[in-house]
Amino acid sequence: MTNFNITPNRRKNFNLTKWTWYPKDVLPMWVADMDFPAPKPILDSLQKLLEHGVLGYELPGKVLYETVAKRMNDLYKWKISHEAVIAVPGVMSGINVAARVFCSDKKGLAVQTPVYNGFHEVKNNASVPQVDIPFIKKVKGNIISYEIDWVTFEKQIKKTKIFLLCNPHNPLGIIFSRRELIRMAEICIKHKVIIVSDEIHSELLLDKNKFTPIAKLSKEIEKNTITLIAASKTFNVPGFFCAFAIIPNKELRTVFEKEVHRLGLHVGSAGLHASKTAFSGVCDSWLKELNRYLTANRNFLVEYVTKNMPNVKTTIPDATYLGWLDFTETGIEKPYEFFLENAKVALSDGNIFGKDGASHLRINFGTSRALLQEGLNRMSKAMKSIK
Ligand SMILES: Cc1ncc(COP(=O)(O)O)c(C=O)c1O
Repeated sequence: MTNFNITPNRRKNFNLTKWTWYPKDVLPMWVADMDFPAPKPILDSLQKLLEHGVLGYELPGKVLYETVAKRMNDLYKWKISHEAVIAVPGVMSGINVAARVFCSDKKGLAVQTPVYNGFHEVKNNASVPQVDIPFIKKVKGNIISYEIDWVTFEKQIKKTKIFLLCNPHNPLGIIFSRRELIRMAEICIKHKVIIVSDEIHSELLLDKNKFTPIAKLSKEIEKNTITLIAASKTFNVPGFFCAFAIIPNKELRTVFEKEVHRLGLHVGSAGLHASKTAFSGVCDSWLKELNRYLTANRNFLVEYVTKNMPNVKTTIPDATYLGWLDFTETGIEKPYEFFLENAKVALSDGNIFGKDGASHLRINFGTSRALLQEGLNRMSKAMKSIK
C-alpha cells in the first residue's frame, strides 16, 4: 500500500517548477504534476540504468512500441500495430508537429474552450489560425458542468484542418461519452478535419469511470485520428519528457514522422525506460490506489467548496487531478491575484485557458489531503476577510 498522505520535500534540490516559482510562503497548487514520488518499479528501472553507467544514445525500439500497443489492447481492446507508434518528447511537441504539417495559414486548428493553456500557444508556434468552440456552461446549485454546443461545433470545425480534442479534458475534467465522441468525429470526417486527440490524462480516472480513445470507436475514425498519450501525468514522470503519437493511418504517419525527424525531436533514455516500465503494467496496483486517493481528494474539494466557500461554484471532474472553480459571483475581481496576495496560494489563472476562463481558477488536487486542506483553508480565510 502506498501512503499518499506522505509527500517528500519538494523544495529540496530546487528542481521542481511548481515548488520553486513562488516565494516559500506560497503554497503551489498550479502546474499539473503531482506531489507524490513515481511508483517504485519506475524508480528501480531508472536506478538500473544509472548503475550500468553507460548513458549513450538510445532509440525507442520495437519492444517499447510493442509495449505501448499492448497497453492499448489491454486497456481498451484497441488493436494497433507497434508500427503505428512514434515517440515524441511530449504531447505538446506532438501537437505542434501536427499543426505544422497539417494546418495552413488559411485553415488552422479548433479548440474547445476553456482549455489547457498549451493549446492556445500552438497558433503562434505554427503560425496558423485558431478558432474557439466554447462549451455551454450549466449551473445547478454550486455545481457547474459543461456541454458541447453542436451548432457552434460544426460551424467552427468547417474552418479548420485540425480538431484539437482534449479528452479527458483539462481543466474541466470531462470524459466525453462515446456518443459525443462519435458525433464530434463524424463532423470532423464530414469536413475533412483531422482529429488530434490529447489523451494524456486518460488513465487518471476518478470513481469507477471508464475511458475510450476516440480512435478506437471505428476504423474510419481511427484513420482520421492522431492520438497522443504519455505515462507522464499518470505515473508522475513529466520531467522525463516522453510521449507517444499513435497514428494507424500510414499516410498521416509518414508526414508526421518526417517532421519529427526534421526537427530532431529525440526522447532521452530515462523517459523511454520510465515509459516502458509504466506501460508494462507493473505499476497498475499503484495506479489503482492513486486513483482511489485522487477520488477522495476530489470529493473533499467539492464538499469543502460547497460548505465553506459561499458563492463559489465547482466542477465535479470525472478524471484528472484538476478542479475548476468559478468565482464570478463572489465579487472577487481577479481571483488569481487575490488568492496569491491574501491567501498565499498559487493557483492557475482561468484567463490562460481562454476568454471564458475569466474569474475562474484551476486547482491541482494531486497532493496530500493535508496540503489540499491547508490550501482550501487559506483560501476560505482570505475570502472571509473581505467582508
Ligand atoms: C492536456 C494536456 N496536454 C499536454 C500537456 C503537456 O504535456 P507534455 O509535457 O507531454 O508536452 C499537459 C500538461 O499539463 C496537459 O494537461
